[in-house]
Amino acid sequence: MPDWLITGCSELLTLRGPVPRRGRALGDLGIIRDGALLVHGDRIAAVGKRRRIERLRSTRRAEKLNLGGRVVLPGFVDSHTHLIFPASRAGEYELRNSGATYEEIAQSGGGIRSTVERLRRTPAKQLKARARMNLREFAAHGTTTIEAKSGYGLDWKSELKILEVLYELHQEQPVDIHSTFLGAHMVPSEFRGRADAYVNLLARRWIPTIATAGLAEFCDVFCDRGAFTVAQARTILSAGRACGLVPRVHAEQLEHTGAARLAIELHAASADHLEKVNRSEIRALGVSNVVCTLLPGCCFHLGLAHYGPARQLIEAGAAVGLATDFNPGTSPTVSMPMILSLACTQMRMTPAEAITAATINPAYSLRQHDRVGSLEVGKYADLAAFDVADYREIPYYFGVNLCSLTMKRGAIIHSKNL
Ligand code: NIG
Ligand code: FE
Repeated sequence: MPDWLITGCSELLTLRGPVPRRGRALGDLGIIRDGALLVHGDRIAAVGKRRRIERLRSTRRAEKLNLGGRVVLPGFVDSHTHLIFPASRAGEYELRNSGATYEEIAQSGGGIRSTVERLRRTPAKQLKARARMNLREFAAHGTTTIEAKSGYGLDWKSELKILEVLYELHQEQPVDIHSTFLGAHMVPSEFRGRADAYVNLLARRWIPTIATAGLAEFCDVFCDRGAFTVAQARTILSAGRACGLVPRVHAEQLEHTGAARLAIELHAASADHLEKVNRSEIRALGVSNVVCTLLPGCCFHLGLAHYGPARQLIEAGAAVGLATDFNPGTSPTVSMPMILSLACTQMRMTPAEAITAATINPAYSLRQHDRVGSLEVGKYADLAAFDVADYREIPYYFGVNLCSLTMKRGAIIHSKNL
């Protein structure tokens, strides 16, 4: 792998600074104008003003990469995806747009359950091929690290199938994958009316086995109306925690349940969605280390008017994050730039806040902030270059992919118009 001297960065967004970012600090991108980077192997060896970096002796051997005045930032860290699924649910999309709600469709046999049925019949090889294609698109939109959940298997064999596919894709690279066990996505039909028996099975058998096998780093629960209660989520997440799986929670999406409080109580890495969170919970989240991961792609795709309370969370001091929630039911997008556009126009985040929420804060929520999420010496050379001269243009232009270069651990994994 060559060393790289990267120049021609009109703005180099380093994202150096305190982790996680809260309040005003969310807007501090650590920008270097006319910046440069020296990449040695898979790491950043130097970062700073072009004139200083170019003078370093070690740049002589490096291959020169002039980006011609583009904006360069850390590769996006997408901390909430359901990467492995067998097919789209475009039929439901059409139904919803003519009046049926997400929950009505779920109750009549569609929704998560329909994806589960199909995934169980789909060979691992096919799931992997689809996910590989999606990963290429993540990379093409500037994302270099993702979290990915199981949860469309819901029987032992199928959950394992998903986690093994994730493990193999992570080995293949180019995008790093951090796995989450989401056996508690929905009560599977075999356990209808016996949710507690399923919860016990998860807590006593599946979770310890998965943790011991090293097949997941995190444990998640869809804690909501029609899925799991706060008490059930507590049982599952505590069992995970006891085996070393860090909790994450799908919280306060469809209905207010108290899941955000549970996330705080269990020191979860992240509480995700939060559309229905109340004022006192916002205050409590604001003084916690739980990353408040907002998923505006969901609201957009479901055609909802109400988005997560980004401004109130920021004012309360919360460590806010953004993610795609890539999944076939509520947010079929791999595009973090699109999420930034939604965060700015629908949730009134500033472009700078949104970029922080898509890089260093999610890196913290994945416990990867020492390796990724900012452009600093010693960290992985994970970066994205956009075909703009002002970082605010990244969310400003929407529905178009302006990412012209993505580098993962010093290797170019996507390039366009360079
Ligand atoms: O994050 N809320 C639960 N899980 C997904 C939706 C999954 C689906 O509909 O297939 C979400 O929105
Ligand atoms: Fe989700």
